[in-house]
Amino acid sequence: MTTLLLLLSLMTFKPIQPLTPPVDYNVHALIETHQHHTQRQDRLLTILNQKNPFHSTYDPNITLTIPIDDPYALDAVINRLHVLTHEHEPEDLVNLRTLDSTHPSQLLRIEAAQAFLQLKAAVLKDLNLTIEVRSGYRSFATQKRLFNQYALKDGIRLANTYSAFAGQSEHQSGLSMDVAEQGSSFLAFGSSLAYPYLQAHAYKYGFILRYPKDKSNITGYIYEPWHWRFVGVELATQLKEQGCTLDEWWIHSSK
Ligand code: DAL
Ligand code: ZN
Repeated sequence: MTTLLLLLSLMTFKPIQPLTPPVDYNVHALIETHQHHTQRQDRLLTILNQKNPFHSTYDPNITLTIPIDDPYALDAVINRLHVLTHEHEPEDLVNLRTLDSTHPSQLLRIEAAQAFLQLKAAVLKDLNLTIEVRSGYRSFATQKRLFNQYALKDGIRLANTYSAFAGQSEHQSGLSMDVAEQGSSFLAFGSSLAYPYLQAHAYKYGFILRYPKDKSNITGYIYEPWHWRFVGVELATQLKEQGCTLDEWWIHSSK
């Protein structure tokens, strides 16, 4: 009987697998990697500043750009350094008119479009004003044409303070929009009563003011009260609380 039990227990015995030894972290290598990363970020920031026509270090000969890893990410930073390829056209663009028959024909990515229509409804309810997207998604080719028109009129450097080179415009992501009050130019949006309302509430719908006043030295563009970018409620809330632009967030979060 004892022998049988012993045999049975041996048959069911599974040797304990040795634990996987902990990864042999090389602390010095990690520190070096971190330093290397930080140095890389510092170099990128230097280049971003050199590409900024408002910055004292502006140098038009700097042409380096970096392709954006995930152009669908709601937090994708699109600027003079991080660029969209000419073939990028989001697959989930929707015409605002199909979601709201009173809205003019403009394209945005579905999530941004739905959030904008909620914001539009809130503005109507609280202020009795109608806002609309005057310019949403713009293709690489459209942005190129627009920029060239402005550059012919104002020269490349001045044009680039208010219009992005193709590939460098957030409008190509389908997440940005120039907002206007119905019947007014988008250029007058800063004087609309809807503007302070958006400044106070747009983050709840996932939008940030992308080119705020007094931030040209960082964003590289003039103050654009009409240009709002959808980043999702979480990041919009964080940026609102910190009073920081998407570029500053990139600088801090990637170090
Ligand atoms: N006006 C903004 C910077 C653009 O062209 O995307
Ligand atoms: Zn815009």
